[in-house]
Amino acid sequence: MIHVDSEHHLFHLRNGFLSLVLRVQADGDGERELLMPYLGQPLGDPASCLYLCQPRGGASFDSPRQTLPYACPTDGRGDYRPALVCALDGQNQRCTELFYTGYRIETGKPGLAGLPAAYVEEPGEADTLYITLRDPLTGLEAELCYTMYVNRPIFTESILYKNTGSAPLTLQNAGSACVTLPGRYDFIHLHGAWAKERAIERVSPARLTREISSCRGASGHEHNPFAVLAAPDATEFTGECLGAALVYSGDFSIKADENAYGSTRLTVGLNERSFSWRLNPGETFQAPEVLFSFSAQGLNGMSQGLHSLIRQRVCRGYWRDRERPILINNWEATYFNFDHDKIMKIARAAADAGIELFVLDDGWFGKRNNDDCSLGDWVVNREKLPRGLEGLGKDINALGLKFGLWFEPEMVSPDSDLYRAHPDWCLHAGNRRRTTARQQLILDMGRTEVQDYVIEAVSKVLREAPIGYVKWDMNRNFLEAGSEDLTDGRQGETAHRYMLGLYRVLETVTQAFPEVLFESCSGGGGRFDAGMLHYMPQTWTSDDTDAVARLSIQYGTSLCYPTSAMGAHVSAVPNHQIGRVTDMRMRGDVALGGNFGYELDLSAQTPEDMEEIQRQVKQVKSIRETTQQGVFTRLLSPFQGNVTAWQFADDQRVILCAYRVLNMPNGEPLRVRLHDVPSGTYCTPDGQSMSSADLERAGVPLPFAHRDFASLVMVFERIS
Ligand code: DGJ
Repeated sequence: MIHVDSEHHLFHLRNGFLSLVLRVQADGDGERELLMPYLGQPLGDPASCLYLCQPRGGASFDSPRQTLPYACPTDGRGDYRPALVCALDGQNQRCTELFYTGYRIETGKPGLAGLPAAYVEEPGEADTLYITLRDPLTGLEAELCYTMYVNRPIFTESILYKNTGSAPLTLQNAGSACVTLPGRYDFIHLHGAWAKERAIERVSPARLTREISSCRGASGHEHNPFAVLAAPDATEFTGECLGAALVYSGDFSIKADENAYGSTRLTVGLNERSFSWRLNPGETFQAPEVLFSFSAQGLNGMSQGLHSLIRQRVCRGYWRDRERPILINNWEATYFNFDHDKIMKIARAAADAGIELFVLDDGWFGKRNNDDCSLGDWVVNREKLPRGLEGLGKDINALGLKFGLWFEPEMVSPDSDLYRAHPDWCLHAGNRRRTTARQQLILDMGRTEVQDYVIEAVSKVLREAPIGYVKWDMNRNFLEAGSEDLTDGRQGETAHRYMLGLYRVLETVTQAFPEVLFESCSGGGGRFDAGMLHYMPQTWTSDDTDAVARLSIQYGTSLCYPTSAMGAHVSAVPNHQIGRVTDMRMRGDVALGGNFGYELDLSAQTPEDMEEIQRQVKQVKSIRETTQQGVFTRLLSPFQGNVTAWQFADDQRVILCAYRVLNMPNGEPLRVRLHDVPSGTYCTPDGQSMSSADLERAGVPLPFAHRDFASLVMVFERIS
């Protein structure tokens, strides 16, 4: 798996899916630099790629360093492309030079102190190569950690920085990973805003630097910490694609740069704009991990590598491999206006329909009858719930449903007992004004006493009521973000310290309540990333629950994240976010593409809709093993046409889901080919049988109903 060729100073990490080659090469002064000459389809003999390490010869104005594929590029030394590292010395010199000092190889994969990361269950699943680079002048050391999984198209990279010198350094940039590929690549990323998260954007870097980033204190709605370099001719099913997902939930930056010498570089890591870190002699700084997935069979192959890695080796715990319960959430049914009886009315209707979990959303605590108060005061509101959460939980459990609860633990309302007691506990920039958003401020999660308060406040509620599920929300982003704890010029550490504190809280709470199912949320999908999924195996995908809008949101999200991570609910019509009316069938057919649930007043549905809801619940229970744990393949894109289709497959069945947004007069008959169907014979509910090859070659006709917003879910059970 990891071969070391001492003659050529080569490291070759290889599995059945990809090769990654690193090489130590002396520069003109004999200093040993680390290059990454190759990343792509598996190589037999990596020595054949050595030509890629030759600096450009002949007369030139430009620095030869502009042409080399550095594995860990630094600032100020004539590379000129985006760099990973900048460490200021006592004179504020930006220049950093990192030269090779040694390597070691270990079986398995290490965890990262204080940060989420992918893991192995058996050491034989992966091998890890550590390469150490050092700046002889400042003593800054970077230990690059590459893990290659044996049976996945995946490698990971992270970097541990250490000050081995005798004077303090300030890290202005401490990136996580860099790859430089020869040639021109398209840059694909996910962009959006609240209620329209993760639309697929495909651009060519085209001789400039493209950056996606966040400085919001969360990975954010606008950009996702994930990007793809794709061959210009790559499609869903063909061509080379390299996906990179940062396992981090805060400020990040991903840059794609195509330079004048025909190579494309991708750098991934923390966002330099909101980061600096004092590194005293002897101290270390751990940069977050990046998951790389490579496929020579197009975007679906790249996504499927990430789906199974994230589902099986980033997510953890009791719920990782279990079927997720069908839930009903009262938010869009009641907003803040509920009491015990109103909740029980909805819960009874849910129990009749076969739903398994009731989630009580915002408004159960303090004096919270709207969104302008009480965050931080996690004590039940007895006016609404006279028998408390315990009484409500018991009544809900008695119906056969589990009971779930909403929290927004990282926040504080200025109108709260918590804020009155600890006005210094929120993020704030000295004496600057404290601007609220949604009438709230953000707790300074970098402070240990704040972390301890949040851990105890949430744990107390979970100990005292029968709670089986938690929705962990975060409803505003950073501004004027400073920390009263950080003195001596260290304010630039605020954002990352917030994340380290949050991760400590999440680790403590989720480990203390291992059987509680946690779902993260941030105004819908504003913190949908592999970092949060390490603690909570599912995320609320978007506040936009309209079936048509959800086609794009779920399709885009699937570029990186598995369907087992996506909360997807049927809500009322006209849709609360965009006013569109779609029928109950279409809404259910879209929602079964994720962790299925409802977000409407079940006690106020028509008999026809209730009948349809009962059918949906029964259907989801019978196929959710496949929709949550099977292989997901995108077939037709909502970004490219009127018909969207995707497929789920495992050893038991293949499921085709297709959606047509608008009907057309005298439209053409439609047929869609399934993809990579496990070989065997399949049958439809009406008894027709067909082979896997037929499903792939002839495809399946799509007899949509004669109306707008039509959908089909076809289940082909495997019979041999
Ligand atoms: C934002 C979430 O995305 C919603 O689902 C809901 O929980 C509200 N917050 C409650 O304030």
